Amino acid sequence: MARVAVVTGGTRGIGEAISIGLKKAGYLVAANYAGNDERAKAFSDKTGIAAFKWDVSSFDECKKGMEAVAAQLGPVDVIVNNAGITRDATMKKMGRQAWDDVMDTNLGGCFNMCKVAWDGMLERNFGRIVNIGSINGQAGQYGQVNYAAAKSGIHGFTKALAQEGAAKGITVNAIAPGYIDTDMVAAVPPDVLDKIVARIPVKRLGKADEIARAVLFLVADDGGFITGSTLSINGGQHMY
Ligand code: CAA
Repeated sequence: MARVAVVTGGTRGIGEAISIGLKKAGYLVAANYAGNDERAKAFSDKTGIAAFKWDVSSFDECKKGMEAVAAQLGPVDVIVNNAGITRDATMKKMGRQAWDDVMDTNLGGCFNMCKVAWDGMLERNFGRIVNIGSINGQAGQYGQVNYAAAKSGIHGFTKALAQEGAAKGITVNAIAPGYIDTDMVAAVPPDVLDKIVARIPVKRLGKADEIARAVLFLVADDGGFITGSTLSINGGQHMY
């Protein structure tokens, strides 16, 4: 029977490529999104993948959303925690709200989604969780104390949860993308982005598909011995 996968932030950017990649590989996919109905509809029309709207920063919404996915597609075997936002500003200018928003969505979302799915995965003795971290959680980034802290938190969260799942058939891994050609990266001021790309040894931005193929590798049924790992995919920008 096809495995059921949920991709948060799954209708745009890296998440869209992951949703499509999983569908092509035979998974039953639910793509979660938080706000952009128009893009979600266009995504579903194009791909035939069902889009489910909820805010991952809310535990109650995650619970209800995952219940809706299970009712439509079946018990969830695979979670890709990809949903993420930026509120970049230097410490001097960053308000408390920008801290809370990024921590609650990027890191709190991982907790909420895993917590909701965890008991079922334990009962079925199978689960695959991939958390999308970031090069900026590994190396830090000027103007991103909130985002770097949340992404760094994801890397720690992954290693801790991997230990809890290891004897129960549940793997938990992270991917740390570098700068990928998405709307999020396009929002970086062009002069700043040019300087960043100049420092990438591969000399270009990454492609969302280049992250999706790694997700497929990590969630495969025969990937049971890979857990607690972080796969850096950044064109050589940070070798960690
Ligand atoms: N290192 C050192 N100094 C820096 C710097 C850097 N990387 N970036 C900017 N500065 C300095 C500037 O030179 C400037 O100095 P002066 O005042 O002496 O001239 C000062 O900081 C202020 O710079 P800005 O005018 O750019 O300030 P701002 O307040 O308008 O913007 C910023 C600051 C929001 C951090 C902006 O520079 C920015 O957006 N930077 C990009 C941050 C970034 O890379 N975000 C990644 C988003 S994509 C992502 O996160 C995905 C992923 O996982 C990789």
